[in-house]
Amino acid sequence: SKIIKVGLLGLGTVGTGVYKLLEKQKEKLLLKSGTNIEIKKILVKNKDKERPVDKSMLTDDWQEIINDPEIQIIVELMGGMEPAKGYIVEALQKGKHVVTANKDLMAEYGQEFFAEAESQNVDLAFEASVGGGIPIIRPLKQCLVGNDLTEIFGIINGTTNFILTKMTNEDVEFGDVLKEAQELGYAEADPTADVEGYDAARKLAILSSLAFHSRVTFKDVFVEGITKISSKDIEYAKELGYVIKLIAIGKNTEDGIEVRVHPTLIPNNQPLAAVNDSFNAVFVKGDAIGEAMFYGPGAGELPTASAVVGDIIDVARNIVNNCTNRINCTCYDKISIMPKDE
Ligand code: NAP
Ligand code: HSE
Repeated sequence: SKIIKVGLLGLGTVGTGVYKLLEKQKEKLLLKSGTNIEIKKILVKNKDKERPVDKSMLTDDWQEIINDPEIQIIVELMGGMEPAKGYIVEALQKGKHVVTANKDLMAEYGQEFFAEAESQNVDLAFEASVGGGIPIIRPLKQCLVGNDLTEIFGIINGTTNFILTKMTNEDVEFGDVLKEAQELGYAEADPTADVEGYDAARKLAILSSLAFHSRVTFKDVFVEGITKISSKDIEYAKELGYVIKLIAIGKNTEDGIEVRVHPTLIPNNQPLAAVNDSFNAVFVKGDAIGEAMFYGPGAGELPTASAVVGDIIDVARNIVNNCTNRINCTCYDKISIMPKDE
């Protein structure tokens, strides 16, 4: 039977997880997707690093991947803006399907990518860009689309939740726990994005755009990170029956959309207070469903790979079924965004 070939960009925490999971699922992919799926080439910066893959698969030359007519799906797991953005645009323009976990790019250039994907009739899937392994992008686009959603809020950064959890439960220094989060593969290449709240703000921009059928960008979000939270703050909060969490909040009100990320006191009996370590939780409020909570591992190698591989299989199914109604592409309306109250 046919084999769908994938070009993988990046073999770091998530890329390695995707490689391992596709290998593990190898025998079942035909059953699950109607086709076999195989990684043909992997783009890395440094080909000499020790890796758990056959060296002949590695390249540091993007041209080798983009010009390979056999490669139908590009999976972008490099992170950052450039060259990842240029590669995604080029891949879409060449009629290749794209899967990405890159929230920085989706928050800033999602519209541009959707337009390109629509015009080429290819898929653009980005489930892993928010919430790590938690299914949240597809539920918003598909399962919940019958609702008018009014609120979306929760914990959407694993690194800061890991740090705050450790600072709450153990006598530890901020810097040491951040180092541990980096070693566990939770943090961004530049962890400033995590601790200053930018990563959560980008994810909130993506979620709010989808939930409210709007165009919310990173610049619209009021952001305050966790760098000013001290052990004393955490101790006082504890004494009063609260925990401190970095919370992202999106509201669609009559006056427009309000989006913010900041440390928040959460009462011990609220479900978000029990979301610990690198776990994430997202609440949505809708006119039909009422309130729903999505909870699970928000970062890390295999949980994130779970979302990416789900996307790859979904795209492969579309290719096999010659599907022309590609639900992964979304068009947004314009809704006013409320000014940030800084
Ligand atoms: P990472 O561990 O830093 O890995 C990045 C990979 O990309 C490395 O293999 C690196 O090559 C390669 N790379 C970077 N720049 C390159 C360039 N210019 N040319 C060729 N290769 C390049 O990153 P990660 O944690 O896997 O994250 C990847 C993406 O997933 C990011 O967008 C991140 O935000 C997102 N994400 C991460 C998580 C998580 O838990 N880590 C969860 C959800 C989403 P070398 O190996 O040669 O250095
Ligand atoms: N750095 C991100 C986090 C990875 O800690 O949540 C998952 O998107």
